[in-house]
Amino acid sequence: MTATIPPIAVPGDKSIAHRALILAALAQGESRLRNVPAGLDVRSTQRALRALGVSIAGDSDAIVVTGTGGALVAPDAPIDCGNSGTTIRLLAGALATRALTVTLDGDASLRARPMRRIAQPLEAFGARIALTPYGTAPFTIHGNGEAPGAQVEIVVASAQVKSAVLFAALNAHGRTRLTGKLATRDHTERLFRAFGIACEQDGEGIVLDGPQVPRACDVDVPGDMSSAAFLLAAAAAVPGARAVVEDVGLNPTRTAFLDVLRRFGADVDAHVSSFAPEPRGRVTVRGAALRAIVIEPSEVPGLIDELPLVGMLGAFARGTTVVTGASELRVKESDRIETFARAARALGAEVETFDDGFAVHGPARLRGGAIVTGGDHRIAMAFAVAARIAGVDVRLDDPECVAVSFPGFAGALEGVA
Ligand code: S3P
Repeated sequence: MTATIPPIAVPGDKSIAHRALILAALAQGESRLRNVPAGLDVRSTQRALRALGVSIAGDSDAIVVTGTGGALVAPDAPIDCGNSGTTIRLLAGALATRALTVTLDGDASLRARPMRRIAQPLEAFGARIALTPYGTAPFTIHGNGEAPGAQVEIVVASAQVKSAVLFAALNAHGRTRLTGKLATRDHTERLFRAFGIACEQDGEGIVLDGPQVPRACDVDVPGDMSSAAFLLAAAAAVPGARAVVEDVGLNPTRTAFLDVLRRFGADVDAHVSSFAPEPRGRVTVRGAALRAIVIEPSEVPGLIDELPLVGMLGAFARGTTVVTGASELRVKESDRIETFARAARALGAEVETFDDGFAVHGPARLRGGAIVTGGDHRIAMAFAVAARIAGVDVRLDDPECVAVSFPGFAGALEGVA
């Protein structure tokens, strides 16, 4: 008989929370959002929306957003989106089809990330976006309040790009059709429906007829799978260990990591307990001796935030774990191919890097060491987990950076049995 261990709760899903906040801000009426995560990224979205004239209050139970019905006001100063790519890209979308001029900016990491990928499709709505010569932030967006609908081909497999275009389409006059690389997380599409917006997907793409004003909606945000992944990984590589995470989002566009854990050899049980507006439930992982796996390029969009963790687990698995088709990792909060490889090598793992991925030869006998996180929350958490699995001491140069997505991470990791 195995002892019962208390399930661990993880912060609310960041992706869902950003979208729910923006939709509630554009809606007619008052929305109550529960389990909005306290991480810095989602705070950046709240701060930005307040700067655009949205009233956001809170009580112990929920964040209450009083919708503007779309009547945003331009602030006098640039909006600081902090470290959050989702904040800057989704807001740019929402602003592209409104008659406002707004400057969006962020921290040093966000200023290094590519913004042409949103500027180009948003210009199809007649918005003007003045990027730096490097195609980065800070940028000023001159929205087009008379925007027509647009035909947009999404050329980067990015939910942020797809969502920026969908938020722009909301206030365009006419039909917007998106085609191309649409098989990324679908929280925007699901939440649009929850907020009463008609948005159809068929074999050809996604179609939205604008303008549409969202109807206020109460949203209970499920736990974040991309945060839970660190706790599940901590159990997966240790035979006899177990992690139980409760009330976590189980949207099929976000659960590829559970299949990855199964392929590594861990035992994974996921039980969906409710479905609307997003599937959610409990996940239990039991650890095992891991064997190496190969991640195909087609799997990358569904695993984009978990790939540093896949590499880290590769160091504990017998054989060579390979990830390719993942050049997007180079433009995340850090260059995650380099920061991952440097950190893994610092602990004694053997890692090769490619332009679009890496290979990890395992199993390695990891030793303690110093990790350069590049200020990247997911690198910091991946190597805190590695330290725990290997039973070694790891010094992170910037342990505070985990607050971007998972304040309280260290305590949660203690809950893995
Ligand atoms: C996100 C999409 C992904 C992901 C990020 C959150 C979102 O980025 O890495 O953490 O909420 O849409 P890309 O759209 O750049 O792939």
